[in-house]
Amino acid sequence: MSTASFPEGFVWGVSTSAFQIEGATSADGRGPSIWDGFSADRAEACDHYHRHPEDVRLMKDLGMAAYRFSVSWARVFPEGAGKANEAGLDFYDRLLDELLAAGITPYATLYHWDLPRALETLGGWPSRDTARHFADYASAVHDRLGDRVDTWFTLNEPWVAAFLGYGSGVHAPGRKSAADAFRSAHHMLLGHGLATQALRSAGATRVGIVLNISPVMTPAQVSDFGRELSEEDAEAVARIDALANRQFLEPVLRGSYPAELLPIIERHGGLDHVRDGDLDTIAQPVDLLGVNYYTPQVVQAQPSESADPAFPGSEGVLFCTVPTAVTAMGWPIVPNCLALLLRRISREYPELDLMITENGADFVDTVTGDGIHDVDRISFIEEHLRALLSAVEEGARVRGYLVWTLLDNLEWADGYQRKFGLVHVDFATQRRRLKDSALWYRDVIRRNGLTETRPKRPTLETVAARAGVSRATVSRVVNGEASVSADVRTAVMRAVTELGYVPNAAARSLVTRRTNAIALVLSVPRQGDSLTAAVVQYVTSMLEGAGKQITLMLADTAESHRRIVQQAEARLVDGVVLLPSDRADTLAERLSRTGVPIVLLGKPAVTSLVPYVDVDNAGGAEAATEHLLARGRRHIGMICGPMDLVAVQDRLAGHRAALHRAGLQPLLALADLTRASGAAAARQLLGDDPSLDAVFAATDQLAIGALQAAREAGRRVPEDLAIVGFDDIDAASATTPGLTTVRVPLADQALALARLLLSRLEGRHTTSVVLPTRLVVRDST
Ligand code: FCB
Repeated sequence: MSTASFPEGFVWGVSTSAFQIEGATSADGRGPSIWDGFSADRAEACDHYHRHPEDVRLMKDLGMAAYRFSVSWARVFPEGAGKANEAGLDFYDRLLDELLAAGITPYATLYHWDLPRALETLGGWPSRDTARHFADYASAVHDRLGDRVDTWFTLNEPWVAAFLGYGSGVHAPGRKSAADAFRSAHHMLLGHGLATQALRSAGATRVGIVLNISPVMTPAQVSDFGRELSEEDAEAVARIDALANRQFLEPVLRGSYPAELLPIIERHGGLDHVRDGDLDTIAQPVDLLGVNYYTPQVVQAQPSESADPAFPGSEGVLFCTVPTAVTAMGWPIVPNCLALLLRRISREYPELDLMITENGADFVDTVTGDGIHDVDRISFIEEHLRALLSAVEEGARVRGYLVWTLLDNLEWADGYQRKFGLVHVDFATQRRRLKDSALWYRDVIRRNGLTETRPKRPTLETVAARAGVSRATVSRVVNGEASVSADVRTAVMRAVTELGYVPNAAARSLVTRRTNAIALVLSVPRQGDSLTAAVVQYVTSMLEGAGKQITLMLADTAESHRRIVQQAEARLVDGVVLLPSDRADTLAERLSRTGVPIVLLGKPAVTSLVPYVDVDNAGGAEAATEHLLARGRRHIGMICGPMDLVAVQDRLAGHRAALHRAGLQPLLALADLTRASGAAAARQLLGDDPSLDAVFAATDQLAIGALQAAREAGRRVPEDLAIVGFDDIDAASATTPGLTTVRVPLADQALALARLLLSRLEGRHTTSVVLPTRLVVRDST
């Protein structure tokens, strides 16, 4: 058996973080952190605080040489600063002793996003004092644990903590200010510099920082890294690279900010917070750069785009989805990007030692009678290790690789639904179960390399053997053919579940000739529904680009439903895209029973297993309503389109949630989808509440109707009445005044739909995709 070997002494292990696994958020004097209660999920996580002996034993059994964990600042300083809480430090004391007894080298991260709430109250990372407190905290931790920690990492992914925490507000503490995000980033870097000084003067031997580094590229470069770029695209790529990567790499490793970044920071709140001497403090020599890699950033120039709040300064750049395989998180899988980024860092910083401190994937796992056969996760890690090895063979100084992560855990704002672990955790019982990936990784560690033979996915043959039937029979069952008896079907399905078998294209095509035809089914076209029209156009061109033929079908009568189902049963189509599925009809369910892969545009009214692509309607409506509240509006009416549309229900829910938080009651008027009904509803709202000062309409069409009604009633927009719509149709920017609205990403939805369908055709696990919406502020508010 030939082996692809790693250098001698290459360090293998896993990474975790305190908030994501420890639980015990009020044990032994721990103070609250900004993440406590930020997402709705309970914070028991993996109860690692009490179960660490078991978790260390697991790592030992798997042969791990290294364990990267993070220290919870709020355990050590419940108030963020002041007097250290010895009981909190005791926990890490025990953990270190166990690790060392198990022969595992500890790598400690001091800040993995869980700022003590007390410090957030005092201003959080936008405040310079936080950097100073961080250095004090680093010293206190070193005083107690320094004799046993091999390597210290100051920060984990400061880009995420600063720009998702303070810029887009998707992460705790949920603030949304570009200026705060840039200030936070700088103060985190300053904190890194001060803490590094403190650690060194206390005698620490190895100190580093962990950065998330994503190669930035255009969609065309994803399959062809060398592709030449237009000037505009090259500029877009360079700007995002400066914001995401160089903003951190260069201050730490060169003592300066990238030149093109300074005017961007200047425009967003100024540069006063960057004081003389800061950059020298930040640029302390580091012994090791931790690199976290998951996926590239794919962008292109698009002059009409407004800035993404997570990347202030990204005006004119479109963040793209690309038709590649993705993880359940929706992150494109591009293993060669790992090699690309390692080559780049090695070229730019040839003396620097590197370590992959995080890499891994979220996939939906099936717990079967004989294990958790997470072949997708194994392939993901294996492909990335091959890419890593090729970079090492070219001279990249990569000292080790840590999988993200040991345990299924609390994935920040996404909660428990994400599964990144090598070890499955049943959150009801806290039982740990090794997935196949854990056992596979143990073997990689043992032989310090990869073999040519990989564990196989359970195949049609394996299922056939287990069920005692022929391959063709398995295929018939998988394809939902009616000719199989109930007993045989049950036996096959049992084998399918037990083995965790995922039918692939081969199984499907064994009894079905592939047609390459995809049906695009339009149920009940809505009047004036430009969204659907645009999505149809994009989906068609995407799928045609992938070599499929598109048949458009209309599902407006019972007869047409029957015809479509028949076509699917007769395998005249390989797959179906159904849009929109707003109404509670049974077509989706009937189609899915035929076994033909199907995907939906829009969350269905009835929960089902059919994957869909939707946008964050509730989040968009919340943002729209919060915007009105921030503009001082208190008497806000909502015009609701047809309430049988799931999207409208979600928009209403988001609106209600934001009002509720502000202690206000909703005031609603119903409408259909026409402008005229929007105008009528607005008149009704004005009549119901004479002090009405704002209207949130469920669609732009309705909002445009409301604008007309306001004009007729002699109300000035926005002075007397602010109006917000939803969708950002073309007409929204052409009204007077221009309509503030929530942008629904059209092309992205279409791309996601096409990609989801293509993944399903390949027999990959797929989960639904919910895309973010974005508030576009114009003059109507
Ligand atoms: C990284 C974080 C880690 C985890 C993975 C999926 O950005 O450092 O805590 O959330 O992503």
